[in-house]
Amino acid sequence: MIIKKLVFSGVQPSGNLHLGNYLGALKNFVELQKSADCIYCVVDLHAITTFQEPKKLRNNILETTASFIAAGLDPKKSIIFNQSAVSGHAELAWILNCVSRIGWLNRMTQFKDKVGSDKEKASVGLYIYPNLMAADILLYKATHVPVGADQKQHLELSRDIALKFNKDFNCPDFFPLPEPLIPKNISRVMSLRDGTKKMSKSEESDYSRINLKDSADEIKKKIKKAKSDSAPIPDNLSSLEKKPEAFNLLNIFSELSSINLDKLINEMSGKEYSAVKNDLADLLISQICPVGKEIEKLMGDETYLLKILKNGAEKAQLKAEENLKKIREKVGLI
Ligand code: TYM
Repeated sequence: MIIKKLVFSGVQPSGNLHLGNYLGALKNFVELQKSADCIYCVVDLHAITTFQEPKKLRNNILETTASFIAAGLDPKKSIIFNQSAVSGHAELAWILNCVSRIGWLNRMTQFKDKVGSDKEKASVGLYIYPNLMAADILLYKATHVPVGADQKQHLELSRDIALKFNKDFNCPDFFPLPEPLIPKNISRVMSLRDGTKKMSKSEESDYSRINLKDSADEIKKKIKKAKSDSAPIPDNLSSLEKKPEAFNLLNIFSELSSINLDKLINEMSGKEYSAVKNDLADLLISQICPVGKEIEKLMGDETYLLKILKNGAEKAQLKAEENLKKIREKVGLI
């Protein structure tokens, strides 16, 4: 059976997107819209699995939409909408809650990392979050899902849920098994303060990340303060990999400059990191600041952003309803 390529991905509207979101996801979203049908979702129902101040959430939904457009997504080419506007996400999530197994969710490392020892106080929504993610993807029968490496385990769960649904309801090819599309070179951008942790919105220090809305001065300061190594740049990748912060900086450099990492190490070996940091800041300023400025500009036109979301939701709704009708039939719902 030939299955047409259909791309789906989502980003949580939990404030300020950062370089990790940009290199791990958004850049890939933009590339894919050139060759495939793409659906990109501001996953507001995922965001409320931890408490969000309502006014802030509304603003963050608009800002994430603005970030999609500023990064290069074109609402004429891709469907862009917010998750809560298409109720099928919540409906399918319920059906999949009944297919997914507690044992599978218990293995999700992101849940364990997020709640730490305070599991009893976590929302039920946070626990079943990966089932909603499977619903997002399967609602459209998406075949490919561009994400950063941190979402790999959730994608594997989505595949397990799809397989079990197909088996339980005796419809082997009903849900395609979604393929993760994870960037090869930089699948996990790490914190600028601790190279063993991913760059994240939730880390306390703003110096740990480059936000898309940072000014040139902020970027310069953050890169200057970023941890690296006291020894000069080594002449081979395996030595560099032993220094996670230094490796992260050169990896980001390689991605932004499109210079292969091995070649970069050859060129830079023996130099101090301070020499590289100036060039890295310049690269970031030239590639990130224009995106940040465009986000600010778009945020001044709420009517335009709301229109994009409304149009996108109408298109998504049609596809979702067509699939849901068949899903309800398979399950035996009238
Ligand atoms: P979220 O909102 O945390 O992140 C959005 C995207 O950015 C990627 N990302 C990173 N990539 C590289 N390095 C980093 N430091 C980094 N931080 C974030 C994430 O991998 C993601 O691709 N559960 C998802 C949202 C979601 C979703 C979906 C994704 C909901 N439903 C269905 C795909 C398909 C999340 O919380 O992403």
